Amino acid sequence: MKRFTIAAVAAATSAMLPAAPVSADEAALAARLPAVFAQAADQYRGLVKRMDGRENCFPKRWQDGKLVTVKPTDWCSGFFPGSLWYLYEYTKAEDVKSAAEKFTAIQDQVRNYTGNHDIGFMLMTSVGNALRLAPKPEYKGILLDGAAALVSRYDEKLGLIRSWNNGKGKGAMYADHFLVIVDNMMNLELLEWAAKNGGDPKFKAVAKSHADKTNLHHFRDDSSAYHILDYNPDNGKIFSYRAGQGASADGTWARGQSWAVYGFAMMYRETGDEAYLSRAMRCADYVLNEPNMPADKVTYWDFKAAGIPDEERDTSAAAIFASAFLELSTLAPAEKGRAYRNFAVRSLLALTSPAYFAAVGENGNFLLKHGVGHKPGRSEVDVPLNYGDYYFLEALVRFWKLAVLAK
Ligand code: GLY
Repeated sequence: MKRFTIAAVAAATSAMLPAAPVSADEAALAARLPAVFAQAADQYRGLVKRMDGRENCFPKRWQDGKLVTVKPTDWCSGFFPGSLWYLYEYTKAEDVKSAAEKFTAIQDQVRNYTGNHDIGFMLMTSVGNALRLAPKPEYKGILLDGAAALVSRYDEKLGLIRSWNNGKGKGAMYADHFLVIVDNMMNLELLEWAAKNGGDPKFKAVAKSHADKTNLHHFRDDSSAYHILDYNPDNGKIFSYRAGQGASADGTWARGQSWAVYGFAMMYRETGDEAYLSRAMRCADYVLNEPNMPADKVTYWDFKAAGIPDEERDTSAAAIFASAFLELSTLAPAEKGRAYRNFAVRSLLALTSPAYFAAVGENGNFLLKHGVGHKPGRSEVDVPLNYGDYYFLEALVRFWKLAVLAK
């Protein structure tokens, strides 16, 4: 199957359409890019410095005046090197590249990690970007091993990859259950890459099966996503739908919805299967039509959180939406594509403003303020998060390619 790049699709699409007028919002964002990337690179130079003397770990968030780091097996381990790679892609600064290489090298040790489903996040953000921007001979093997590790969690009977391991002992919360979270769509990109780059063709079949089952089970009629599906491992029947990181099992956790838009757009890019495009668009349309979406398009952490408008925003979900909507804008029919692109640009204008984008030296040297990791767990509420920064930079690079380089 042909691999579509954003730039290639944008070029093909614009060849068929009358040139869209550049909106004032797009012009403003394009004009802001050089200063935003310069500020972001300086901010991350400070974060690299904060890591001096800390071994085998990565910055994840800044909380209560302290830097919180994570080990390589954490789902967030790849985002810091990945952000450095996006900064390098735009700035071409050699010191940023050296830092990206140094932190990417740490990820070699998780290449066979099977403890959860997150290896796609860990490796595609770090090693995947490294391979794309400054290839080294070892990178391919790491990604291929990572894909095999992910597939080891696949259950043939259910046709799904197990997200988390069961709790231990009688009465443990997850004992004898098979949990799948919508976030898992993101890890399928590693399988798609591996299947096209010398890996077992089964990788592709596993990604397809997992995406098809997620498409079938993980959404309400309005295409809002459940966070956790709790399957019976014996017969694949659904025991329950769980709120997880969302406000309630009936609500819509914003980051879960953003993983859905991103994951299904990515699967359409990789496979050409129209069912995935349709799901990505329906998930995106839910967001466009969501009455609780603030005017600046920086979402609340849950669209149905009880205290809206006094609930926290989640800049991480906003950044993922921006990046996903930009990709979807190149895949969807023209009119819809324009709506997705306009939404992404509006949110990036907000995210690059001082309300959300930290001045150099502030915010523990992270880029975005006001992220929410897991409010029901009272963890990471209104803090900077490394994954928010990663998708913010990815969205800005995608916008740069679409709006500036493709011109
Ligand atoms: N499990 C990834 C997230 O918190 O979004």
